[in-house]
Amino acid sequence: MTPMIRSNICLNAHPAGCEAMVKAWIDRSVKAKPELATAARAGGKNTPQTVLVLGCSTGYGLASRVTAAFSCGARTVGVSLDQEPTEVKPGTPGWYGNRAFDAAAAGKSLYAVTFNADAFADGTREKVIALAKADGLRFDQVIYSLASPVRVDPATGIMHRSVLKPIGEPFTGRTFDVVTSEMREVTIQPATDDEVAATVKVMGGEDWELWIKALSEAGVLAPGCATFAYSYIGPEYTAMIYRKGAIGRAKEHLEQTARSLAQYLGPLGGTAWVAVNKAVVTRASAVIPVVALYLAALFKTMKELGLHEDCLDQILRLYRDRLFAKGPVPVDSERRIRMDDWELRADVQEATSRRLAEATAGNLDRSVDITGFRHDFLEAHGFDLPGVDYDAEVSFR
Ligand SMILES: NC(=O)c1ccc[n+]([C@@H]2O[C@H](COP(=O)([O-])OP(=O)(O)OC[C@H]3O[C@@H](n4cnc5c(N)ncnc54)[C@H](O)[C@@H]3O)[C@@H](O)[C@H]2O)c1
Repeated sequence: MTPMIRSNICLNAHPAGCEAMVKAWIDRSVKAKPELATAARAGGKNTPQTVLVLGCSTGYGLASRVTAAFSCGARTVGVSLDQEPTEVKPGTPGWYGNRAFDAAAAGKSLYAVTFNADAFADGTREKVIALAKADGLRFDQVIYSLASPVRVDPATGIMHRSVLKPIGEPFTGRTFDVVTSEMREVTIQPATDDEVAATVKVMGGEDWELWIKALSEAGVLAPGCATFAYSYIGPEYTAMIYRKGAIGRAKEHLEQTARSLAQYLGPLGGTAWVAVNKAVVTRASAVIPVVALYLAALFKTMKELGLHEDCLDQILRLYRDRLFAKGPVPVDSERRIRMDDWELRADVQEATSRRLAEATAGNLDRSVDITGFRHDFLEAHGFDLPGVDYDAEVSFR
């Protein structure tokens, strides 16, 4: 079975490959367990006991669930929206990822329940709350890691669609095709005011707040509960399309929501943060023009400097060096946990900018890390993993 890729979107997923990828993450997080336990002890912090992960099946959400369960021994409940396979069509990578996670958790007698459901729907909140009440769960961590192009607002029934567009003026940047390595210029017209508002509706903090308030009112948050969501800032190179674009407005809203949720949870001894993570190749990020080329250049730099991290490295470091740190969790002036500190280091950015300036269609293979980008992209869909027989017959279910 081979990947079917159109415009940097992979249309299929390899079941055994997706499961192998999750197993590899689980192995790494099991190995990291003693290190995280030592960090928590040294910092005088409790490791999480009962964790809800919204957007649990791939990328940062999966890395968070794997860390909570296999490095910290937590009971986990996960919610993601994944396509089930049929006899003739594979499911989405997350469907196989959840299956592999649930099987590995059962193998270690770790409590794990996964809902394949729309996290934006009130009905899903009700199901999670009903489960928590039935099983006596009180969440001491709620991790919000949804990345979605659409959201139906449960209050109005209106479907909002997010956009990846600049604000105010058109933006022209370069992108490359993950299959052919062909580089081309793309111009993206600015978002309308309605599109910006819709993007904030989908990727801002409104739904996160609905979750925390519903869980709190139902009495299923533990005293001292911490909730965090993931954000991104990035360099000037991607700013027009990302941080200063429509998605950036949504991330600003998410960050404001963290501050208001921190106040809301204060009386319960709880708190809320946004963790600003580094850029990685996930299903969500691979389709953003300009970001793909930046990622390939960044990878080359960070690998050369020995600073490269994938989703799991980031989340392990988030727990070890931030959440478990002695004293208050280290945050920036706007109360954000900065996991993009290495990405935004001056030497990393200088070298990455130089590579981007030098990159041409003729030297792309040498000037940036196309191979690394392509591997991560394929791996996120279960391809290009060692030890998987891609010639063998595949059962999608
Ligand atoms: N990828 C990056 O480079 C990067 C960097 C920093 C921060 N982030 C942030 O991390 C978060 C997660 O992004 P990712 O890159 O890991 O994405 P991803 O596409 O790998 O994962 C998204 C998850 O959300 C789930 N999901 C989507 N719609 C859903 C719905 N309606 N109901 C339930 N589940 C749903 C998917 O099933 C999947 O589990 C986002 O907030 C993103 O902005 C990403």
